[in-house]
Amino acid sequence: MQRVAIILPSETYRATAFLEAARDLGVRLTVVSERRQLLLDDADFLLVDLGNPIQAAADIVERHATTPFAAIVPVDDQGVLVAAYAAHDLKLAHNHPAAVAITREKAMLRRALRSKVAQPPFVVVERSADPAQAASELTMPLVIKPLSLAASQGVIRIDSPQEAPEAVDRIRRILACAGRNPNEPLLFERFVPGQEVAVEGVLVGGCLKILAVLDKPDPLDGPFFEESLYITPSRHEPEVLTEVAATTQRAIDAIGLTEGPIHAELRIDGSFVRVIEVAARPIGGLCGQALQFGLLGTSLETMLLRAALGMRIPEIRPYHAASGVMMLPTATTGFFRGVHGTHAALKVPGITKLTISIPVGERVEAWPEGNRYLGFLFATAERPEHVERALRSAFEKLTIEIHEVPSESA
Ligand SMILES: Nc1ncnc2c1ncn2[C@@H]1O[C@H](COP(=O)(O)OP(=O)(O)O)[C@@H](O)[C@H]1O
Ligand SMILES: [Mg+2]
Repeated sequence: MQRVAIILPSETYRATAFLEAARDLGVRLTVVSERRQLLLDDADFLLVDLGNPIQAAADIVERHATTPFAAIVPVDDQGVLVAAYAAHDLKLAHNHPAAVAITREKAMLRRALRSKVAQPPFVVVERSADPAQAASELTMPLVIKPLSLAASQGVIRIDSPQEAPEAVDRIRRILACAGRNPNEPLLFERFVPGQEVAVEGVLVGGCLKILAVLDKPDPLDGPFFEESLYITPSRHEPEVLTEVAATTQRAIDAIGLTEGPIHAELRIDGSFVRVIEVAARPIGGLCGQALQFGLLGTSLETMLLRAALGMRIPEIRPYHAASGVMMLPTATTGFFRGVHGTHAALKVPGITKLTISIPVGERVEAWPEGNRYLGFLFATAERPEHVERALRSAFEKLTIEIHEVPSESA
């Protein structure tokens, strides 16, 4: 029986989806992670330090000697370089480590795409530079972001150069709290107006197979960029979607990615399609559960394992006419006390599931300091506008309680 290694940080729920997919496909799975996941007793584990990709890859190669792997799949940004190094050594299908490294650092990504793919004009601003002066090199408004964070953490829009010093200080504090180098250069780039879409796909021999294009129908105009709705199929015109697909493939080629999962974000500004970001991993959090395929409702994880094993990918047709997910926003910083109204929300026609992913009592932070959603609300319907309506109406029934003080001292 073939065996696949998946690399992921300690998020049990995602490992579970891959275990199910492996069972369906009749393959074995090894979970490569930083912490043993208590709920996954029956899984084969390999504990590694994802912060040290070369050592982590060597650990996978060593395990391969006793339990050979047919493929290595990264589930999260933290695992992409480890997967590339290990698969390179083991001569399995893989992305070149240099290509993967580009997706992990926003200035490298912008430089790789420059003059090849439409993207916002940008400058990389060193610690020593004057932020207001740097901002005045570009046309307002701007987005300022750290190079090394994700999930919109530390991403801030400014509307005048005078706002730059305060935004920069705030981002440096966020970097320090995240354990990153607070003095790393920052990316200043032109704010791209318009609607954002996400492309979820898988690369096979350099060729992108698009699994879904998801609209983000809430305006993402800042100043902070926490996400909310993802809905598929996209309601954009077919010509626009053709351009989205072509632009994503061009970006992938410019970066040099060739194999495995792809999650790209693009903005549609009239007839212009511009790349915001390309990642060599699947969609984050629980959002992948909004995607199912074919006549049987095959999961995204199954599609990714099939692709990794060189199995034929069945014709890519969505299982539901339309589906979507709302990430529950962390609107204020404080202690999460729970969500009321879940019963009423689940009764809204079209709503299929509500998962609260943060334990009650935990401290949560609003964006731009924060990077975690409270939970995920799912819906399916005949048309994307119905999915959107269901998600919005269910969300209205929810009351999210975040208090300034922990419950013991309340
Ligand atoms: N140049 C830009 N113009 C408009 N919106 C942007 C721009 N850059 C980032 N954003 C918004 O911020 C979000 C997060 O930025 P992104 O570069 O994707 O970083 P992250 O790795 O944190 O996801 C994007 O999904 C988008 O909504
Ligand atoms: Mg992004």
